[in-house]
Amino acid sequence: MSGASIKREVAEVDGTPIKRVFMSIISDYDLRTGLCELIDNAVDLWTANGQPAGMKIGVKLDSARQLISVEDNAGGVPSESLHLLIAPGASHHPAGHDVIGVFGVGSKRAAVALGERVEIRTRYKKKQTHQIDLTPEWLASDDWQMPVYEVPDIDPGTTRIDVSHLRQTFTEADVNTMRRHIEETYAAFIEQGCIIEVEGNGTSAVRFNSWAYPPNFEPRTTSFTVSPDGNGTISVKITGGLIVDRDPVEDNYGVYFYCNERLVVKELRSWEVGYVTGQAGIPHPDASLCRVIVELTGPPELMPWNSSKSGINYSHPAFKQMRDTLLNLVIYFSTLSRRMKNDREEGVYKHTSGTIESVDPQAIGRSRGVLPRLPEGRRKHTDSLKDRNKTVISNAPWTLGLVEAMGLVDIIGRQKLDTKNRAALILLDSNFEIAMKEFIVNRQDLYPAHIYNDAKILDIFKSRHKVINEVKPHVPQLSALLPKINHMYTLRNKLVHERATVGITDGQIVEFKKVVGQALKLLFDIKTA
Ligand SMILES: Nc1ncnc2c1ncn2[C@@H]1O[C@H](COP(=O)(O)OP(=O)(O)O)[C@@H](O)[C@H]1O
Ligand SMILES: [Mg+2]
Repeated sequence: MSGASIKREVAEVDGTPIKRVFMSIISDYDLRTGLCELIDNAVDLWTANGQPAGMKIGVKLDSARQLISVEDNAGGVPSESLHLLIAPGASHHPAGHDVIGVFGVGSKRAAVALGERVEIRTRYKKKQTHQIDLTPEWLASDDWQMPVYEVPDIDPGTTRIDVSHLRQTFTEADVNTMRRHIEETYAAFIEQGCIIEVEGNGTSAVRFNSWAYPPNFEPRTTSFTVSPDGNGTISVKITGGLIVDRDPVEDNYGVYFYCNERLVVKELRSWEVGYVTGQAGIPHPDASLCRVIVELTGPPELMPWNSSKSGINYSHPAFKQMRDTLLNLVIYFSTLSRRMKNDREEGVYKHTSGTIESVDPQAIGRSRGVLPRLPEGRRKHTDSLKDRNKTVISNAPWTLGLVEAMGLVDIIGRQKLDTKNRAALILLDSNFEIAMKEFIVNRQDLYPAHIYNDAKILDIFKSRHKVINEVKPHVPQLSALLPKINHMYTLRNKLVHERATVGITDGQIVEFKKVVGQALKLLFDIKTA
């Protein structure tokens, strides 16, 4: 029948939400996300009104009686707008302000998620005070109508939400955590004059810009815009650097996101922000001096946050558009952190002041070329050995080979070779023997040329035994080292002369390295340990 393809209305279904929608919108909420939604609303109204002086938000967290209340003097809700407080999806913010509220579910979701009984009182300007109650009975009924009561006046312009019969209990410790969370989340607003009290005590702004300014490696900042819907724009500012307030217990590093000045999430170390092998590497204490702060401003509906504003939606186009630049900064400063891991006190923490350098986002996005070349990785062992023996080498250049050979022994030790210990043994034993030769040949004060002529030298060098006997009288402490040196020599000879090849253990190499190092110290004052 052809009629099957024609659209024809036959009836209507009722699309009115049922109260159970509250159950779904309260899932995933906790004390933090819930309380912050209530604070967000007060802050938003304050911002929309131009941030007038005298703004105060009072948070009560009574752990003894298990009561929560949030009171603000941002202006109150006019009687014709009371539905905004209970109808899921209802939202009203004066246009043109970069606020936090957008989904129209925050206050309802939060109030209901925190407890079974919620009383909301609000007084718009100096008008009549109204109260509405969210109760289990109302949530259980099919009726969406909600009684509004006239009650004795509260302060003008005030909204107060009281929650009881809590769904989750909290302790005194939670109150302190919550206070800290508020100080971090609303730092910008506190700085701008919004007073937030927790249990009657004021809060102070907590920021994360404890940058270190090592010369050449100062923090870098870059600004640009993204347009997630191809229409509106979000301003993005990303600042990365090394920090001076590293806390090994708190793991206070990674990526931080602010949306319209409100902290959304801190210390992100997920693969989406670069913490994966091949980029910044998996999270590791060595990389814990890297912090990257992302600050987004713009219309709330374009922000890449999740619906409880406690995390970032990585598949949001706004995030995708800023990702490359973000990753490059995370990678750069994580690498820098790793390279500085042995020099934190002098190289990083000492540099507490300086300026943050602005860089071109395009260039960061394309390559890491605009950032200064990173310092060399772990300083090469041989180089530092040579550094330590600089004076000895310059006074007695023949010692250079002896020093470098000791470096080579370490390099051999790091190879993935089955027979590396045997190579190390041969090198160590030869280095000792050569050291003795250099001593005799170069210390003409001890071995005068008229006695130690070419013929005599040649004869001495025919046998190791003779060489040692020549040196011993001048370096008596050498005798104490000889048992081990001879053991090394025996093993080496076995390698050279015997049918079966001996195995040499890591422990033996450690011992031999030590004893040869001691001999070099006695003979030439070379320091290897
Ligand atoms: N404390 C408050 N003071 C004044 N108005 C408020 C307050 N809380 C909520 N509102 C109003 O209720 C609306 C709905 O709040 P909410 O459910 O959190 O959604 P959203 O913040 O996303 O708009 C807000 O847009 C605001 O107009
Ligand atoms: Mg809200």
